[in-house]
Amino acid sequence: MNAIDELFANTAAQGHRVPLLLAPMAGVTDAPFRGIAIRYGAHLAFSEMIASQAMVRNSPKSIKIASILHPEPFFAVQIAGSDPQVMAEAARMNEARGARIIDINMGCPMKKITGAGAGAALLRDESRAATIVNAVSRAVKVPVTVKIRLGWDREHQNGLAIARLAEQNGARMVTIHGRTRQDMYHGRADWSAIAAIKKGLSIPVIGNGDIIDPQSALEMLSVSGVDGLMIGRAALGRPWIFAQTTQFLAGGPVPAPPDSAHLLDLVMEHFDALIRHMGPELGNRMARKHLAWYTRGLKGGSRFRDAVNHSPDHHTTAAMIQTFFRSQPEFRIH
Ligand SMILES: Cc1cc2nc3c(=O)[nH]c(=O)nc-3n(C[C@H](O)[C@H](O)[C@H](O)COP(=O)(O)O)c2cc1C
Repeated sequence: MNAIDELFANTAAQGHRVPLLLAPMAGVTDAPFRGIAIRYGAHLAFSEMIASQAMVRNSPKSIKIASILHPEPFFAVQIAGSDPQVMAEAARMNEARGARIIDINMGCPMKKITGAGAGAALLRDESRAATIVNAVSRAVKVPVTVKIRLGWDREHQNGLAIARLAEQNGARMVTIHGRTRQDMYHGRADWSAIAAIKKGLSIPVIGNGDIIDPQSALEMLSVSGVDGLMIGRAALGRPWIFAQTTQFLAGGPVPAPPDSAHLLDLVMEHFDALIRHMGPELGNRMARKHLAWYTRGLKGGSRFRDAVNHSPDHHTTAAMIQTFFRSQPEFRIH
């Protein structure tokens, strides 16, 4: 069974309604965060995008991005680029390093990426998009998936055409972010446009964009009829959103978020993993943004974030984390 079929089979075997996926996020979804998301209920977590050119040059940074910390059930690597042969080679390299799913980025709106003909720029070049999916699918045995937007801009919403081409050229699943490239991250994601694309495909479709809590996840599912949901920004500092959403979709009440004592355990687990994975210096720096997300809305949070941003080393940061969470009003030892 390939990893996509296995993903759906496992989800069903667990009695869960649909798979919930952690969105690929550059600079965020490294191996430690993916591990945390999976532990807190995500069924699949994509790596952030890896530039295929850098990958084939064996850039240490790309290798690091594409590496696993814990064995992940479905190690899924996203690659970006515009040259079919380079993309195929990057896919092969990732497969050799243990990737069980290769995802192709056709949604990144950043000028640096689209200017090089990659990411969302592929939405404007259907024949190149098709050639890339074809070349990558032929290059690897593992399933290939594609992540797209609705189109380049509101006037050119060819998401369905692109998704169909992807399907015809070997893609086993498509994720749709319900915005155009021109929208960047503004406005609301258009879930009914996702529904229209879903109707025109036979491969599984994952819906993405603006799921902010279990209730909006259910709404996206009802409006779009997709086969799975992908959550990005709402999982930052709140990885338990996956477990909450699964329970809510099953008709149960939304479980309470962790109290400060549990949150302290989670944050320390995440922090230790960052230090182990990236080394003390980089790990300590990379932890800042996650610590900011975890402490949003907590008492004394802004003072804590300021202190952490000036923390000289990871020992000091670890002590700050302990003090902060233990001083929260409802801290309870469990
Ligand atoms: C900081 C950040 C980095 C992102 N990096 C990537 C990326 O590397 N590859 C990709 O396909 N999408 C990337 N995205 C887009 C997300 O995967 C997702 O499509 C988008 O955030 C909408 O989902 P959301 O509303 O649940 O956050 C990124 C988004 C953010 C906020």
